[in-house]
Amino acid sequence: MRVVLVGPPGAGKGTQAQFIASHLSIPKISTGDIFRANVSGGSELGRKAKGYMDRGDLVPDEVTIAMVRDRLSEDDARDGFLLDGFPRNVPQAETLKKMLAEWDARLDVVLELVVDEEEVVRRLSGRRTCDTCGRIWHVVFDDKRDDVCDDCGGRLYQRDDDREEVVRHRLEVYQEQTAPLVSFYAEEGILVGIDATGPVEEVTERALAALRPFMD
Ligand code: AP5
Repeated sequence: MRVVLVGPPGAGKGTQAQFIASHLSIPKISTGDIFRANVSGGSELGRKAKGYMDRGDLVPDEVTIAMVRDRLSEDDARDGFLLDGFPRNVPQAETLKKMLAEWDARLDVVLELVVDEEEVVRRLSGRRTCDTCGRIWHVVFDDKRDDVCDDCGGRLYQRDDDREEVVRHRLEVYQEQTAPLVSFYAEEGILVGIDATGPVEEVTERALAALRPFMD
């Protein structure tokens, strides 16, 4: 199954991606995670992406698309994948469509996670990420009082782009550049939206129920 998750920063894409991908036995491909790994590893790609990410702007399409093409060409993505954070604008969506057509494939479904702006700011201000396994936590909702990952013992860190002024800019970028994807995919007939508020497990159940009609 080939799935795209779309939704504003903090909608819970990364959180839900880990559960949905594991349930469907497909790889989770998060462009934000790949960029962050390259920034912390000091690669050329990371060097190109860092300034844009720190400001909350999109990394240029040519850099992002080349990276996604490489990742989707790997063996584990041949029969399905869940994309988190890509596409991020209409040109990326059009390129993805062409790329998949070259491989005689197409997207099955685009799942929109719907949350309001106040909830997004609350979620991002308390987000912590494990530097070892990548698990996403929240200081209040998960009652995290220390900076140790309960899953693997790794250290939890706060993302640089979760500062309030950068979050506000990321939300503007979402409205201007990414939100048009909702009507793009609605016109393609493959968009489903779910309410992404409430406990994480309930959102996962809603997501899987919404995806079920698109499964083989
Ligand atoms: P990226 O990493 O993709 O960031 P984003 O889209 O802004 O999304 P986030 O990761 O902030 O939020 P999320 O929806 O995954 O929420 P999460 O699950 O963590 O991109 C970062 C940057 O990389 C971009 O700004 C850009 O520069 C660059 N980039 C990436 N892709 C690109 C592309 N295609 N083109 C160009 N540039 C690109 O949840 C947030 C918090 O809420 C967590 O603490 C979580 O525990 C909590 N939470 C989740 N669900 C719930 C719930 N149901 N109830 C309570 N708390 C919850």
